[in-house]
Amino acid sequence: MAALYLIATIAKGDTVKLLAVNGSPRKTMNTGLLLEKIVDGAASKGATAECVHLRDLTFKGCMSCFHCKDSKGKHYGKCAVQDGLTPVLQKAHEADVLVLGSPFYFSMETALMRACMERLWFQYYLYTTKKPPMSPRKKATALVYTMNVREADMVAYGKDVIVARSKGLMERFFAPCEVFLCCDTKQVKDYSKYEFDVFDVPSKLKRHDEIFPKELERAFDFGVNLVI
Ligand SMILES: Cc1cc2nc3c(=O)[nH]c(=O)nc-3n(C[C@H](O)[C@H](O)[C@H](O)COP(=O)(O)O)c2cc1C
Repeated sequence: MAALYLIATIAKGDTVKLLAVNGSPRKTMNTGLLLEKIVDGAASKGATAECVHLRDLTFKGCMSCFHCKDSKGKHYGKCAVQDGLTPVLQKAHEADVLVLGSPFYFSMETALMRACMERLWFQYYLYTTKKPPMSPRKKATALVYTMNVREADMVAYGKDVIVARSKGLMERFFAPCEVFLCCDTKQVKDYSKYEFDVFDVPSKLKRHDEIFPKELERAFDFGVNLVI
């Protein structure tokens, strides 16, 4: 019974709310552009959709204060830390569809995204098997990753493990989680300014010109499918 009231129901005619969170410090590069397309796709189907950029916010990761675990306290099931992430956690709580996007930094999500994930997930986590987590069930969730390496090289760099772990946590807390991968991205606008011999730069630029526009279209469709 306890779990039942946690299941968010979207009544017929209600507007679906999608929140996208950008963990890249760059708002308008690969991850940010893909998330904006996902938002546009969702909005095209009548959803209320927005993207927040973590780089604009001043916040910390989980402080391990344990107020969210104190069943007699006022912060039970809610992160008690009050900072720039607090409104984002509230929006994430209320969203029907939650999308987290991050570049890979040394084969993990960025520090910005990791700090957000810690606070998002830990507030709901319970150290008991007798109750479900305190998270609201959602219509759908998604993880969006961008990276320098090609998709075929993800396993060699252990990125598949990170994706599977974060996907598993999103599903444990919220809802089935779709994964959107965008590989072999154009990392900088002008490669000639830097030493970049570990990559085949002409091939990267070609890919960016020919494939990335298709990735943006794929992101739009992905956003549509998350809300219908
Ligand atoms: C600090 C740092 C670490 C990175 N580490 C990786 C990595 O481990 N694997 C990878 O494929 N790309 C790595 N990259 C490249 C980015 O993941 C890639 O360029 C991404 O698309 C950037 O996203 P953005 O354009 O949205 O900022 C790294 C970039 C930076 C700045």
